[in-house]
Amino acid sequence: MVKICCIGAGYVGGPTMAVIALKCPKIEVVVVDISVPRITAWNSDTLPIYEPGLDDVVKQCRGKNLFFSTDVEKHVHEADIVFVSVNTPTKTRGLGAGKAADLTYWESAARMIADVSKSDKIVVEKSTVPVKTAEAIEKILTHNSKGINFQILSNPEFLAEGTAIEDLFKPDRVLIGGRETPGGQKAIQALKDVYAHWVPEGNIITTNLWSAELSKLAANAFLAQRISSVNAMSALCEATGANVTQVAYAVGKDSRIGPKFLNASVGFGGSCFQKDILNLVYICECNGLPEVAEYWKQVIKINDYQKSRFVNRVVASMFNTVSNKKVAILGFAFKKDTGDTRETPAIDVCKGLMGDNAKLSIYDPQVQEDQIQRDLSMKKFDWDHPLHLQPMSPTSVKQQVTVSMDAYGAIKDAHAVCILTEWDEFKTLDFQKIYDNMQKPAFIFDGRNVVNADKLREIGFIVYSIGKPLDAWLKDMPAVA
Ligand code: NAD
Ligand code: UDX
Repeated sequence: MVKICCIGAGYVGGPTMAVIALKCPKIEVVVVDISVPRITAWNSDTLPIYEPGLDDVVKQCRGKNLFFSTDVEKHVHEADIVFVSVNTPTKTRGLGAGKAADLTYWESAARMIADVSKSDKIVVEKSTVPVKTAEAIEKILTHNSKGINFQILSNPEFLAEGTAIEDLFKPDRVLIGGRETPGGQKAIQALKDVYAHWVPEGNIITTNLWSAELSKLAANAFLAQRISSVNAMSALCEATGANVTQVAYAVGKDSRIGPKFLNASVGFGGSCFQKDILNLVYICECNGLPEVAEYWKQVIKINDYQKSRFVNRVVASMFNTVSNKKVAILGFAFKKDTGDTRETPAIDVCKGLMGDNAKLSIYDPQVQEDQIQRDLSMKKFDWDHPLHLQPMSPTSVKQQVTVSMDAYGAIKDAHAVCILTEWDEFKTLDFQKIYDNMQKPAFIFDGRNVVNADKLREIGFIVYSIGKPLDAWLKDMPAVA
């Protein structure tokens, strides 16, 4: 029986390994982590992450060929293939701070693998890492190897949260990079054999190590660039009377461009896009390519602009002040169908409104109050560095923010509603009831284009929808960027 161990039981390690276990009943899969609460949750009825379909997959194989454990060293020692799926956040201090990937967690995992191994192993980079990380990992492993043969593969993960199980069941492609040596090719084949249990051979791409590492950063950069492109257009649409949904539809009908991933929004969020583009920018700078770095940096700048443009629009529309006004926030997760709030645009929007002294009342179907309070107290980039989570000023956040159990509670007596996540349940709210319970004039700022603006205007709301023609009211109250 082949034994797989995955270091890191997070959003990637957990679902990915659960699907491998489900599809390969003859392979034993153990997911290990240093976080005791995380492993306890994976072994309980309440999994540590919310992901449609995940419960079912875990229930089918946990205890049979899927295990979760904190005994990291034992399971690494016993494994034939070790996946490393630890966090690779942005550095917050020292050389490359604010851009470069922090490989502390990766390096300590690699050193531990070298320490405990007594037999040959394939070590798979599942985390998203800078190009050439495999070389560094190889050095750590071979310098400490005691004659053991380690083969390093790059096998980046392309799942998106909210659809992780679907994506893992039917991946557009599986990418495996390895050394172009007989040993490297043998290792690639061994990993290919695992995926071949359910992924058609034509969808398994093999490359050299550096192409695989760079393809992951490139894919995320291209995806984020599409969103920044449509968001840049949304600003121009508002200025000209064009409608961004119509523009995106017309543009996406070109088969060379395609219709997906062209929804204008309050900005992209999530743990990957910003971090990976900053990482790409840093790599370009280190390789003497400042023009290329500048090009990709612009994707982040437009995303930041989109969030501050939204805040400015809210404040400008409400007589240039939201001081002491109750503003309801619907949705805090970075997208629907996840409870994940890492780099969610809601953090920047809420902080922007709090900067103007608004009183926020927040509701999200999957995000708990303590998470929201923590996110709004934290410094940029600190969320992925558990060791230095020092809240900035939790007391002032608590004075300005309340969290509600449902949308109606959050909105009662509010002056405005901001929709920041596209949860389906927001489409079917009783907006007449909401209007009746709000201060007047009642505003809705739709950062995801989920509500029917015309119907809401008939009720009496002043409505702002990203990238759509503006109400007379909004035109009279221009937002200065
Ligand atoms: P995560 O923070 O949810 O999980 C990482 C886990 O690794 C944590 O539970 C942490 O405790 C554990 N860990 C850290 N160091 C460890 C060590 N030395 N030994 C054992 N456990 C250790 O992160 P994630 O979202 O799963 O992302 C993991 C990697 O995958 C990152 O590089 C990320 O960029 C990449 N990725 C993420 C996504 C996504 O959608 N979240 C998608 C594709 C790729
Ligand atoms: C992304 C990549 O899609 C995935 O391949 C990679 O493995 C990890 O990073 P994820 O961040 O989980 O996945 O979600 P994604 O669906 O890409 O959405 C990212 C952000 O972009 C969200 O905030 C989403 O709301 C936003 N978005 C997405 C838009 O604003 N408009 C769109 O058209 C699509």
